Amino acid sequence: MVVCHNKTQRELDSTPCVNTSYIKAGHFMQNTIQSQEAQKLHYLITGANRGIGLELCKQALEKGHHVSACVRKPETATELRALEGNLRIVQLELSSGESINDCAEMIDGPIDVLINNAGIMGGYDQALHEIRAEQILETVNVNAIRTLEFTRALLPKMKASQCRKIVSLTSRMGSIADNTSGRFYAYRMSKAALNMAMQSLAIDLAPEQFRVLLMHPGWVQTDMGGANAPLNVRDSVSQMLGVITRYNHLGKATFMNYQGETLSW
Ligand SMILES: NC(=O)c1ccc[n+]([C@@H]2O[C@H](COP(=O)([O-])OP(=O)(O)OC[C@H]3O[C@@H](n4cnc5c(N)ncnc54)[C@H](OP(=O)(O)O)[C@@H]3O)[C@@H](O)[C@H]2O)c1
Repeated sequence: MVVCHNKTQRELDSTPCVNTSYIKAGHFMQNTIQSQEAQKLHYLITGANRGIGLELCKQALEKGHHVSACVRKPETATELRALEGNLRIVQLELSSGESINDCAEMIDGPIDVLINNAGIMGGYDQALHEIRAEQILETVNVNAIRTLEFTRALLPKMKASQCRKIVSLTSRMGSIADNTSGRFYAYRMSKAALNMAMQSLAIDLAPEQFRVLLMHPGWVQTDMGGANAPLNVRDSVSQMLGVITRYNHLGKATFMNYQGETLSW
């Protein structure tokens, strides 16, 4: 892993973003500046049905934030539906442009923090001799192209907040500098494309004070990460939420792991 510890502190140095406290009735209070830890924000989290996305919702709700949780099938999202707190579940199928637009319309603004967590591995048959073009196209479509499209659809509601944080779950496997083991064409290409899309977005939106973060969650015990992963989902998510809260870097995007260490592109 390539880690540049010297950049981390500067990028985590933060002034508080402005709180847009959410009230159940659907109105937002007059903005007040509080310490970042105490702020009650509106988080929008995709892929909230299981794994890292479900845990992000759980811990954000535990901290008293309002959460809009996006899932493909709200009716079967039983673990998510059982969570207590200020939660709204909205349907989102990222591979459909229509679903992206409908979802963006249904979400109440302002949105303070968008977490693009939903993603696919694209199968485990990704060695050179077996990878198929369709597999790569589908994986890049969901993980990068549609994620960018979804983010763009939400910008008007994010501009209504002064916090304006866009966080996308990427992977070290999308790092060109860190690729020493090859294979995994679809997944690696999709995350490298996501990283590039978010970097352009960060530059384009810098004049409007957006903060863009690409975050590697570690190798985590989920359906995607598998049972042999060294990190449990609760530890990964609690550290990621700490990094996200403190992250306040304006300008270009940053590629960090769950511990707040800057990774090489
Ligand atoms: N776990 C790891 O070790 C690891 C490491 C590096 C990066 N990451 C990244 O972290 C993120 C979360 O990973 P995870 O381990 O929690 O994965 P996971 O357990 O496989 O969960 C993925 C989530 O994404 C949703 N999703 C997949 N395709 C979708 C689509 N087309 N539209 C909408 N939602 C979709 C799934 O919905 P359904 O439940 O409906 O299928 C599920 O809720 C991913 O972006 C992943 O690439 C994970």
